[in-house]
Amino acid sequence: MKITIIGAGNVGSSCASLLAQKDIVQKIILLDVKEKFSEGKSLDISQMLPIIGSNTKVIGITNDYSKSKNSEIIVITCGIPRKPGMNRDDLVQINANIIRSVTKKSIIFSPKAKFIIVSNPLDIMAYVSYITADIDSSRVIGMSGILDSTRYRYFLSKKLKLSPNDIQSLLLGGHGDTMVPLYRYTSISGIPIQEFISEEDNNIIIEKTKKGGEEIVNLLGTSAWMAPSASVVKMIESILKDSKRIFSCSAFLKGEYNLKNIYLGVPVILGKNGVEKIIELQLNKKEKNLLIQSANHIEKMIKKFK
Ligand code: LAC
Repeated sequence: MKITIIGAGNVGSSCASLLAQKDIVQKIILLDVKEKFSEGKSLDISQMLPIIGSNTKVIGITNDYSKSKNSEIIVITCGIPRKPGMNRDDLVQINANIIRSVTKKSIIFSPKAKFIIVSNPLDIMAYVSYITADIDSSRVIGMSGILDSTRYRYFLSKKLKLSPNDIQSLLLGGHGDTMVPLYRYTSISGIPIQEFISEEDNNIIIEKTKKGGEEIVNLLGTSAWMAPSASVVKMIESILKDSKRIFSCSAFLKGEYNLKNIYLGVPVILGKNGVEKIIELQLNKKEKNLLIQSANHIEKMIKKFK
């Protein structure tokens, strides 16, 4: 089993590191345009693995896509990250060109691969990759909701002083600022969230979550990588093991939620074929409106770059 991660920057290399530590794949190809960079990162990760006890081979490659041949999954993390003062949408033009080019080169060597897109603005980049790869949309998936959801669980657990592990949450919509929180679908060990926190107080946590990525950009001068890469590894595991887990991911909609021809965060079942099913929830009016707002924002961005 072979996985290729494109981009050996913070997200790509952490993703390779976390995945290698799990010892669930034979080979990880870490590919970057910058000479010697992915080779160095891969060597460092490989030298950690004897301590961890993993047999995964991590191989750094400069720009030679033939080495990614027959990958099961291609993870696209390359592109420009945010700097303080930027929002994800500011990256659209430059990253769209990069994503188009790497998708084109990858699909030639791995025509059966599933693609996980991490580059921002996420929902637009997933769309660009899907259009470029020209494959079934179930095989191109954006990583968004797991990350937003883990941030929300973290902030909520701090507020409620209980374990984040027991919090189940679902988020819809675009990644980050336009995400749509689903208070009605949040629970803690099966107990409805309403028994722990009012919707008003929960909204404060949601606002913090929306700005979660930005908070890190402002602290570090670049965007986050630990939580994003752990989110990618969760998706890879569910696909490789065909566990059919339900996660919010950015998926291509063909009429679900009354939306079409757009990538947007929705709950999906992730299995060996990628998105095996999009789960449609019966949203109330308020939730529907928020989702439409989020979709409108993404549609506007798609038009802009087209
Ligand atoms: C974030 C970036 C990766 O939310 O989108 O941190």
